[in-house]
Amino acid sequence: MQSQATYNYKVVRQFAVMTVIWGIVGMLVGVIIAAQLVWPDLNVHEWLSYGRLRPLHTNAVIFAFGGCALFATSYFAVQRTSHAPLFAPALAAFTFWGWQLVIVLAAVSLPLGMTSGKEYAELEWPIDILITLVWVSYAVVFFGTIVKRKVAHIYVANWFFGGFILTVAVLHLVNSAAVPVTLFKSYSAYAGVQDAMVQWWYGHNAVGFFLTAGFLGMMYYFVPKQAGRPIYSYRLSVVHFWALIFTYMWAGPHHLHYTALPDWTQSVGMIFSLILLAPSWGGMINGIMTLSGAWHKLRDDPILKFMITSLSFYGMSTFEGPMMSIKTVNALSHYTDWTVGHVHSGALGWVAMISIGSIYYLLPRLFGRPEMASKKLIEIHFWVATIGVVLYIASMWIAGVMQGLMWRATNPDGTLTYSFVESVKATYPFWTIRLLGGLLFLSGMFIMAYNMFLTMASGKAVDAPVLEPAAAH
Ligand code: HEM
Ligand code: HEM
Repeated sequence: MQSQATYNYKVVRQFAVMTVIWGIVGMLVGVIIAAQLVWPDLNVHEWLSYGRLRPLHTNAVIFAFGGCALFATSYFAVQRTSHAPLFAPALAAFTFWGWQLVIVLAAVSLPLGMTSGKEYAELEWPIDILITLVWVSYAVVFFGTIVKRKVAHIYVANWFFGGFILTVAVLHLVNSAAVPVTLFKSYSAYAGVQDAMVQWWYGHNAVGFFLTAGFLGMMYYFVPKQAGRPIYSYRLSVVHFWALIFTYMWAGPHHLHYTALPDWTQSVGMIFSLILLAPSWGGMINGIMTLSGAWHKLRDDPILKFMITSLSFYGMSTFEGPMMSIKTVNALSHYTDWTVGHVHSGALGWVAMISIGSIYYLLPRLFGRPEMASKKLIEIHFWVATIGVVLYIASMWIAGVMQGLMWRATNPDGTLTYSFVESVKATYPFWTIRLLGGLLFLSGMFIMAYNMFLTMASGKAVDAPVLEPAAAH
């Protein structure tokens, strides 16, 4: 029996559509800065210079594209698994408009050069306060929905989404503590090495919770849904959750190897990073094995291809990360393009691909259609994106290892074999290949936007009725 009430799909629709739009914007800025590295003359104005656009890129892809994807998918999953419409719909609407305002303010203030100087937390204090208001509202809507759920059980995807929401709140509050001097300028509440430690405790957990735990929530809901199979091991998913959130917290110092940070702290960071391989791979295996017995579906379901490929990239980047955290390896990789390659195997391969797959799952359901307007275009998108990521990360690995080796090479008399500028010159071909990879990935996003437009034009916004707990999610 179905009740009259419907799920709140409106806010999910808004966030889902904006995910695609911000994906295009953020990746376009990525392509522009990639081009500026190849052709420095493209730095035509201070507002559009590399130093200003780079933080705009990271903020746009992580918080606008990734953030909207997380809002859309968590709002969808929490309602469906709780058999209850969203708690406080007005507050949910506020999270949408508030978050868009944060993004627009970032897009204006960063090119103007307003920055707190903390990576991934560059926005100045008034915007930080707005972020706090939106985030607290998000927590109220999400946990409020959990509280009014009709089933006793809280599905594992919600544990990951919940862990991500709570942790990001704490990270943001602690790392953004600052003393404002004007409306547009503030100074960190911390100084020296403590400031660096707080920053990378934040930075690494932004990776662990914003770019990982939230997207694992997405994985735990959408992969079983798209595969039409239950999650491979529910027990493993619970162990995965607790092991992951406990371990991530300690790994931040691997960003500060060979700095003024006490040596033992760096070693703790390295050891916890190595341990992190286990829960990360446990999660990846759990996701991929969900397909066991249904591998044939991979052959002709491009949405599933996105999801399973994203898990493979997740496995790759969470193998690479622990290796890079070993001090002797980091002595080679740090400051090089190897780090940038690692970042994008996680960011494009994992974060973007799982989001793209999940949004493809959502769009037809939100616009009352049996499936996306064109399956063929999803298939093309998949291949264009995959080739794009491979070109991006392979070129950066080679460039990174080459740079590291050139910087440490010495002549028999102890002088350096290469000047720095020689290493820059040697990197040009690889930056060009990265630009090509980025362009391919961006074209894929345009294909997705076109397919989304066709789907929206031929469908109409629908809100599904709330299901009684006995029925399927
Ligand atoms: C087991 C999991 C992981 C470990 C242990 C790990 C470890 C590392 C290490 C050692 C670095 C280099 C630090 C440096 O030399 O400066 C790094 C950089 C980075 N990683 Fe990972 N990583 C992991 C997974 C991921 C994933 C899945 C993503 C993305 C979704 C990611 C995103 C980043 C980012 C953005 C940076 C660059 C930070 C910066 O310097 O701005 N990592 N990671
Ligand atoms: C078309 C796709 C993309 C292109 C062409 C691109 C390009 C770039 C470039 C050129 C940089 C600067 C590298 C440097 O300073 O040497 C960068 C940095 C970064 N990008 Fe992207 N990017 C893309 C997509 C993404 C996505 C989807 C994400 C996240 C979800 C992301 C996250 C980052 C991060 C975290 C950094 C900073 C890395 C660090 O500090 O080590 N990018 N990107």
